[in-house]
Amino acid sequence: ATEGNQAVPNSAVISTPANVKKHITILYASQTGNAGGLAKKFGEQLQQAGFDVNVSSMSDFKTNALKKVDHLLVIASTHGEGEPPDNAIMFHRFLFGNRAPKLEHVKFAVLSLGDSSYEFFCKTGKDFDEQLEKLGAKRFVERVDCDLEYDEPAAKWFDKVKAKLQEGEISEQTVQEAAPTVLATTTEYSRKNPYTAEVLEKINLNGRGSNKETIHLEISLENSGITFEPGDSLAIFPTNNENLVDSLLTALHFNPDTKVTVDDKTISLKEALTDILEITVLSKPVMQKIGDFTVNEKFHGLLANRDLFKQYTHGRDLLDVVQTFGPFSWDEQSFVNLLRKIPARQYSISSSLAAYPDEVHVTIGTVRYEVDGRQRLGVCSTQVADRLEIGDKVRVYVQRNPNFKLPSDDTPIIMVGPGTGVAPFRSFIQEREERGAEGKNWLFFGDQHFTTDFLYQTEWQSWLKSGVLTKLDVAFSRDKAEKVYVQHKMQKHAAEIYDWLEQGAVFYVCGDKNSMAVDVHNTLLHIIAEQGNKTEEEAKAYLDNLRKEKRYQRDVY
Ligand code: 2AM
Repeated sequence: ATEGNQAVPNSAVISTPANVKKHITILYASQTGNAGGLAKKFGEQLQQAGFDVNVSSMSDFKTNALKKVDHLLVIASTHGEGEPPDNAIMFHRFLFGNRAPKLEHVKFAVLSLGDSSYEFFCKTGKDFDEQLEKLGAKRFVERVDCDLEYDEPAAKWFDKVKAKLQEGEISEQTVQEAAPTVLATTTEYSRKNPYTAEVLEKINLNGRGSNKETIHLEISLENSGITFEPGDSLAIFPTNNENLVDSLLTALHFNPDTKVTVDDKTISLKEALTDILEITVLSKPVMQKIGDFTVNEKFHGLLANRDLFKQYTHGRDLLDVVQTFGPFSWDEQSFVNLLRKIPARQYSISSSLAAYPDEVHVTIGTVRYEVDGRQRLGVCSTQVADRLEIGDKVRVYVQRNPNFKLPSDDTPIIMVGPGTGVAPFRSFIQEREERGAEGKNWLFFGDQHFTTDFLYQTEWQSWLKSGVLTKLDVAFSRDKAEKVYVQHKMQKHAAEIYDWLEQGAVFYVCGDKNSMAVDVHNTLLHIIAEQGNKTEEEAKAYLDNLRKEKRYQRDVY
């Protein structure tokens, strides 16, 4: 580039004449806001580069606008077992349905976000990528599938996208000058830059004799400047259990003090395995990499058979692998290289900043189970339950959840939250109480036993008394011979639930995804059909419409 070119500010040279300005549509499928955050950030950068950009949640996007779409960027996260996030369900269904349009005029690129510890890693992004091609659209940048640490691969994908979009629009010199996307270096606390917070209070909410242990944790945010809204989550970075690390080191015949390099830092192997690397989850990518260090036929048999793989990896960890299939041909460094970082665990926040300024509360169910005669410990939950003391420090950040939000006005709300699923609703009610919101609030709570498991019992009862909580229905499943679940209580109050929905109520579900949330969903459909005199199809359409109006919101895990 000549001196003259260098003197010109980037934004000025990149801007193109209006008649060649490319229109870019960015659609995101986002459950907790990560994909949405990237979409907005990339959208801004493209706008600054002179493009005409429209960023939209898939749920807000009018499908007939596809006719006019020219360049399409899809940023999609996947939830649980490969399903699209709630805000993408309708658009996903539309593209896969028989009313999907031909998209030969569209050029597209897909970025998928996911978690490689799930079998259907990045499935939603893969679905969109394949289906857009099937509908005739032209892929102009290859899809990238990101694991939990998505920042770098996402930025690289975006650099390629931007370069392609700029091709032919600007002179050679300016292309050479285009700087790579700088990873956001912000002073805000985030996954990349967590806040070290002090534990103020820790209480087991379950009574003596309970099958459960649910920890109520209060954490100080004083002077951090961190804010959140009801519905958001708190992410906590755990460390691995030292006993497990020691057993693993012994099984590996590795010296704990051996120096290894992780992220350009030289530390002891023991430190790396305790503080930084994940040793408790056997994801497909990790298992495949382990396969490079053994010729053990049984191990390779696992890799080759989906059912066997699933069955074996479920609930097992690296210690099992080393004990069952070792020895492996790795050394300390190559072993360390195949592991991913310990991901932060996310917990729905159970307090409101309005009620508890400078604090954040979470409600954590302790995970313990046994496999092959060895007790297994949930990494974060048992660290909190067994090792974290008042006054200790934890590394945290707030994970926004734009898809689980209180209405800003006095709209009535119905909340279904059995077990730890009740957490965000404590935040909701605190917030509504502090704001003096007049809206009606109805909570369905369930757990095993009334006497030991009624989480935050006295708080709900005093809110009921003061009228902040309008209605409270509880389902204790193991107090009587017959199981009573939250959905049975819903069915019992079918007419009133439908009445609230007709009044415009928002319906929230939080908690277990695979059984509770499915049963609650079906019960809700049944209630709508029965009370609204609707066919099954009409009831589904009614519920789809609720979702579209953001009146059916779920935070399920
Ligand atoms: P259970 O443990 O007796 O089966 C919180 O964990 C509560 O949710 C418990 O009372 C639990 O009952 C209950 N639960 C389990 N499966 C459920 C389902 N499919 N729908 C609703 N509640 C369920």
